[in-house]
Amino acid sequence: MNTQPPPGRPEHSPDLAEVADIVTPFAVRAAATLRLADHIAAGHTRLPDLAEAAGADPQALLRLLRFLTCRDIFAEPEPGTYALTPLAEQLLSDHPANLRQWLDADEVAGRLDSTFPHLVDAVRSGTSVYAEVHGASFWEDLGASPARTASFDRLMAQVSQSTRGISTAYDWSDVRHVIDVGGGTGALLHEILEAHPHLRGTVADQEGSVTEARRFLADQGLNSRADAAVCDMFVSLPPGGDAYLLSRVLADWDDEKAARILRTCATAAPDDGRVLIAERVLPEAPEAPQDPAEARRLTSHDLRMLLLLGGRKRTTSDYARLAAQSGLTLNTSRRLPGGATVLEFRPGAGGARRG
Ligand SMILES: C[S@@+](CC[C@H](N)C(=O)[O-])C[C@H]1O[C@@H](n2cnc3c(N)ncnc32)[C@H](O)[C@@H]1O
Repeated sequence: MNTQPPPGRPEHSPDLAEVADIVTPFAVRAAATLRLADHIAAGHTRLPDLAEAAGADPQALLRLLRFLTCRDIFAEPEPGTYALTPLAEQLLSDHPANLRQWLDADEVAGRLDSTFPHLVDAVRSGTSVYAEVHGASFWEDLGASPARTASFDRLMAQVSQSTRGISTAYDWSDVRHVIDVGGGTGALLHEILEAHPHLRGTVADQEGSVTEARRFLADQGLNSRADAAVCDMFVSLPPGGDAYLLSRVLADWDDEKAARILRTCATAAPDDGRVLIAERVLPEAPEAPQDPAEARRLTSHDLRMLLLLGGRKRTTSDYARLAAQSGLTLNTSRRLPGGATVLEFRPGAGGARRG
């Protein structure tokens, strides 16, 4: 019998049927939603006890655990007793990666995941399917429920890891007042203001996020240097800033809307001001060498953006082209330790410097 993989297929390549299997992602989400890892860690290791703690039917839970244990997600060291494996540990609520919240079907993440069966429609139409599935666009749907907004803001505060280091990697010495456009609950503004005591800052966002940002910035003792203002970034932005920051905002939108957001920033910024974009950027050429893990992350996020928002990931040149429509010129570009890149644009023409 020939045990060699077919030519061109690496030996470790998983079977396509395995990759496309739909049960595993949902079984993991069920475990995350039922907080099985937390309950086991708290000592509810026997099936009846675990079922009661999780609010699950014991026989159905047994079947879920049978599925998961034979995939090394949970272990059964003795019949009817369950334990954590390294994979299951990642489902603990206090795990630093906080994956559990991203997999919780009862949180906003579940609402986002439920659009995935419609990916083919998004690929056919080239735009978001969110309104088709949930009856309202992504941001309208979030805005309609304070609980959903809060759940989403918690997720966003966590993924903002990609912009980690923006307070030190970018030169803030000449900036006086930064307006964090679509700044969410103010976590990034807090990082920047903490590192630069000369700076003032304003979060400009939708109502639910602004309420939370005000509370958060006050809790951080930043009331004298920071505030938050409700705005529609497609219409107008708070005046008075000399830096308008768009952190992980433009990827949510198609080119036409992203250009409109850049236009409101360019209009609000003074002649000697700047517009900053912080995003993970695509490599300039598809064939450019890329870390495979980064390629998987970027392409996954790109599809999410299409599906949920009709948005997209972009290259630095794509951003420069969109910003040029508002008379903004790329001045510097610097990769941040968290993986995002901060692009600095200035009004008017100017030479490009790369950092
Ligand atoms: C992906 S989150 C990014 C949050 C934050 N900048 C960060 O890096 O973590 C996008 C933000 O855009 C805000 N947003 C969406 N539509 C908006 C609008 N029309 N005007 C102002 N903010 C808006 C959302 O409320 C959300 O906080």
